[in-house]
Amino acid sequence: MLSGSNGFGNTYTRIEGFSYQDVGAVFLNGTTLQPRGGYPPHRLAETALGLLSATGWPNPGVDAVVNTILPAFATEVTHICANVCGFTIEEYVEVTRRFDDTSVAAIELNLSCPRDQADGNIFDDDLEHSARIVAACRAVTTKPLITKLSAHHADIRAMARRCIDAGTSALSLINTVPGAAINIESRRSVLGQLSAGLSGAAIKPIAILNVMQVAEIARPYGVAVIGQGGVRTPEDAIEFMIAGADVVGVCTGLYYDPLVCTKINAGIAAYLARHHLSGVAQLTGSLHTQG
Ligand SMILES: Cc1cc2nc3c(=O)[nH]c(=O)nc-3n(C[C@H](O)[C@H](O)[C@H](O)COP(=O)(O)O)c2cc1C
Repeated sequence: MLSGSNGFGNTYTRIEGFSYQDVGAVFLNGTTLQPRGGYPPHRLAETALGLLSATGWPNPGVDAVVNTILPAFATEVTHICANVCGFTIEEYVEVTRRFDDTSVAAIELNLSCPRDQADGNIFDDDLEHSARIVAACRAVTTKPLITKLSAHHADIRAMARRCIDAGTSALSLINTVPGAAINIESRRSVLGQLSAGLSGAAIKPIAILNVMQVAEIARPYGVAVIGQGGVRTPEDAIEFMIAGADVVGVCTGLYYDPLVCTKINAGIAAYLARHHLSGVAQLTGSLHTQG
């Protein structure tokens, strides 16, 4: 599935050879109650092994997404999912409620939004607060509800457990990892914000560990795990599945190769054939932990 860098559906569709048929689902970018222009430039900066981003969730607001953007999607090609951002519990609930009566296949709660734009704190540092958001949103939609977690928790297992108890249908991880970059000549931040999010190859080992830990908690409850963070190759996607991911996401990898999903699919099919496996379900959680 695609997430994050996908905008509101048309970022990659103009590229020759790109097709939504190659992905199981497309997650729209973070959507808030009111339109947001996002943070001042620069919003993206390449690092040695990844990407730093500070976007500020630019989006046209939930009503424009629901009334104008979603009706234009060919939902028979792939599943379109919403990604909800908010600065208060009430905002999460209201945006979720407005997506409930639409064509989206699922609603994902991005819990990595600052509670207050000035203080830079993120929601999902606070276990109980995150669980309250999940429970409150669960109450206003019958759609599958996905909770998207960040890696920077004292105990991501505890967070996963609380979100499951609060009614999430699936867990998605990881979001970007906090980071910063400084221009040494100007001694200013390279980006328009001081604090940014790191994605891409650099964060893959962090994501793999977190997926392993969360999958262990989620599996007994039948809660699906979406693994993402640094996927660029078929081998990366297979590694995530062995770690416990039922579904694998790509975001930053698309900046380097917008046709990467076609290659990932072909590589996974070749791996399955080589290992005499009938499907990816046989890979999920197949890590040998002993011997
Ligand atoms: C430019 C950019 C924008 C993103 N926007 C969102 C967003 O709106 N909502 C969200 O939940 N995650 C967002 N993400 C996080 C990605 O979906 C993904 O979880 C993270 O980047 C790790 O995957 P990757 O290494 O494949 O990029 C964004 C990431 C990037 C790089």
